[in-house]
Amino acid sequence: MELFNQLILAVLPLVPKSIVQKVSARYIAGSTLDDAVAVVRALNGKGAMATVDVLGEFIHSMEEAEANARYSCDVINRLHSEKLDANLSIKLTSLGMGLDDLRCEQHVRTILTTARDAGPMFVRFDMENSPYTSTTIDLYKKLRREFSNVGVVLQAYLKRTANDITGLITDGIAYRLPTNVRLCKGIYREAPEIAYQGREEIQQNYLQLLDQLLTAGAYVGIATHDDVLINGAKTLVKQHELDRSKYEFQMLLGVRDDVRNKIIGEGYRLRVYVPFGADWYAYSIRRLKENPKMDGYIVKAMVGLG
Ligand code: FDA
Repeated sequence: MELFNQLILAVLPLVPKSIVQKVSARYIAGSTLDDAVAVVRALNGKGAMATVDVLGEFIHSMEEAEANARYSCDVINRLHSEKLDANLSIKLTSLGMGLDDLRCEQHVRTILTTARDAGPMFVRFDMENSPYTSTTIDLYKKLRREFSNVGVVLQAYLKRTANDITGLITDGIAYRLPTNVRLCKGIYREAPEIAYQGREEIQQNYLQLLDQLLTAGAYVGIATHDDVLINGAKTLVKQHELDRSKYEFQMLLGVRDDVRNKIIGEGYRLRVYVPFGADWYAYSIRRLKENPKMDGYIVKAMVGLG
């Protein structure tokens, strides 16, 4: 990363929120459910499926968790009634994981039940930072015995992920359950003891894990904008002679739309992650940090040219 970009990265927490909001608008559908519905409808019109995420994490009370759970059910019902090709992604900390795991599980059950009655609609547990990895995977393992409309995310930067896949597959065989994983690189800052740090070693691990999942017959959401991984994934699904219904590509709203359109044009299934809501700041910062042109956007916005 260039020096100037690194400098902007360091001062990002000091950049006024209004500027952050302006330069990150492309990553977020808007602040209301109506905004999200409009974006999903437009994506569906372009041949893309969607997964909707209500922005918000790191809550402070179980009242907030309960309100978030209720709202997730509203979102499910609305997506269903609008007949959109969309499902839901949820962050378990926003439902109380880490505060009260038992009540978090109750909230997740309520969401999965609502989603099962709406279609069924699929619900994916996003993966957060490493203190929550085991609890998230364990809850997925437990709930997939009762619900067929649930999946989890695994991160290729974590050194433990190959073992986690083996655990999921073994447990899936024992209980005759399918495994449904979104595989991504991982976005949080993690220690070198537990996470690969280099770009190439993460890429290499990603493709090994994807091969491990596809070999075991798991359904995979191949979540990346990285050409090396997209091309590697295309090669792997060809080698495995996989029907296109057995996997999907996934990308984030506002990132590499040209690549997204190309993948869809080639006939692959692709889902776009559509976040919306008032609590946009943390998500926006994560996205900006990954944007190689972030420094230019911020500076232009600061001097009123953006
Ligand atoms: P990489 O970051 O190398 O990006 C490849 C190229 O894409 C870059 O060179 C750049 O050109 C472009 N690009 C990437 N990000 C950009 C941006 N913000 N703005 C402009 N251009 C950009 N992580 C996690 O820890 N838990 C989760 O649950 C999820 N969920 C999730 C869902 C979906 C659908 C996706 C696509 C990603 C996630 N992630 C995630 C995030 C993921 O872990 C990772 O941080 C990002 O996808 C970026 O990694 P890439 O594989 O795209 O490579």
